[in-house]
Amino acid sequence: MAAGIDDISVYIPKLYVDTEDFAQARDVDIDKMRKGLGIYQMAIADNNQDPACLAANATYKIMKRNDIHPKDVGRLYISTESSFDESKAMNAYVVGMLEQVYGPGTFGHCGGVETKFACVSGSYALYDNLNWIRAGEADSQYALVVVSDIAKYDLGSSGEMTQGAGAVAMLLSDDPHLLTFDPKVTATSISDEYDFYRPFGKDTPIVHGQYSNLLYLLQVRKALDLYKKKVLSTKLITPGPDESILDYIDYLNMHLPYSAMGRKALAYLLRHEWRHLPRWKSLIEKIGMAEPVAQHPGTIETILANPEFIKDDSKFNRLLMETDEFIDIYEKKLSSSLIASKMIGNLYTASLYLGLRSSLEYEHRKGVDLAGKRVGFGSYGSGSSAMVFSGVITEEYADVVSKMNLDSEMKNRRRLTLDEYELLHRGQMPLTESILSGDGEFILTDVNKSNSERQYVFKS
Ligand code: COA
Repeated sequence: MAAGIDDISVYIPKLYVDTEDFAQARDVDIDKMRKGLGIYQMAIADNNQDPACLAANATYKIMKRNDIHPKDVGRLYISTESSFDESKAMNAYVVGMLEQVYGPGTFGHCGGVETKFACVSGSYALYDNLNWIRAGEADSQYALVVVSDIAKYDLGSSGEMTQGAGAVAMLLSDDPHLLTFDPKVTATSISDEYDFYRPFGKDTPIVHGQYSNLLYLLQVRKALDLYKKKVLSTKLITPGPDESILDYIDYLNMHLPYSAMGRKALAYLLRHEWRHLPRWKSLIEKIGMAEPVAQHPGTIETILANPEFIKDDSKFNRLLMETDEFIDIYEKKLSSSLIASKMIGNLYTASLYLGLRSSLEYEHRKGVDLAGKRVGFGSYGSGSSAMVFSGVITEEYADVVSKMNLDSEMKNRRRLTLDEYELLHRGQMPLTESILSGDGEFILTDVNKSNSERQYVFKS
């Protein structure tokens, strides 16, 4: 049975910090943020919003747009790493909010859990729900997978410039109108790491930034190797002698903690895939230096302990990214997926899927015929695990994509002053005070001081 995505909705908070203001306030070179990291604006959640509100707003949008009633939904999964309760799942909060609109008990039949594994958990939720559909358990109902996060780092930390907030809801069915996932090729990798984690009671994560960057690349590469084995054995892709499986993937969507990480990951995966192909020789001649080789045993620790290797390797990567071969692939397969990330920032679990929406919309606007194109996904979550999988865009995708408009999601946002941003970041305002009133959205109105119960309303 086929399984895939029918539609994707996005909810972006209406407040943002501009890198111009941020760079000046933190005395950071704006070129580092814009050119180095690929960040222009970061969406910021208002005082009356939490990740459950963002998730409910994205879910409500997709249900309205597709004229779906709760009775049509068999599963509602929420994936997040911004959870505010150790036991009660975010789904319950979202169901409570949606039932304010659809009526009490309307979701009573629906199942689902909150999933956690840093930024990769949405991909696990997606995979599990696709398999629920493939197993024939859905009984003509939809599954909703919602990824929602507020990426918040300590003030003054190096991660602070990679923040953002938002939610993406994906409507899944056995007759998908947008993208059908390839069965039996999803690949995973996992290991116990401390690159990024948020212990109980902490509002912000403990981050080893460069370590997490490197782990991201290594874990995705491991998952790609397994994906490759699976696509070759299932004959989904049969590359010729001077070909790589990446030649058969028309679009790539990578996890985007910041947009430049997608570009970096593309360069790394191409190196991994191309270095044994005949084309590598002429590319090395163009680059003008040999590819640096990590000292045996090439573990993450030996790599990080060798600044000379890291320096040479970054130089090699930079030169590779300047070649026509790389630029051509970057423009064709990746660049459109980065546009939204540049203007919205880091959405943790949702960043990969915001990238998918960005890619579909901006490629469609270019007039490219996307029907039948294969999309590859590289999902990464710190801690750490990666997933690599793929899908094919449907014949009728244009009906769905032509109704999408990220520009309108991003317009009419309010640029925060740094003082306002810091006030929001410190959580110093009472809940009754927020920058915006949240019209036409679910908002948080109260967190009970004695028992932590939360109250939400839909502001019509
Ligand atoms: N002009 C252009 N580029 C510049 C620049 C300038 N003036 N100054 C710096 N840069 C480039 C650097 O060369 C680097 O590029 P590279 O990655 O291609 O080498 C990039 O900007 C970032 O600079 P760097 O010095 O590495 O930044 P940093 O050490 O301050 O931290 C992160 C960057 C991402 C590690 C940090 O923001 C962080 O910890 N983020 C949170 C964790 C995260 O996002 N992890 C990702 C994996 S999930």
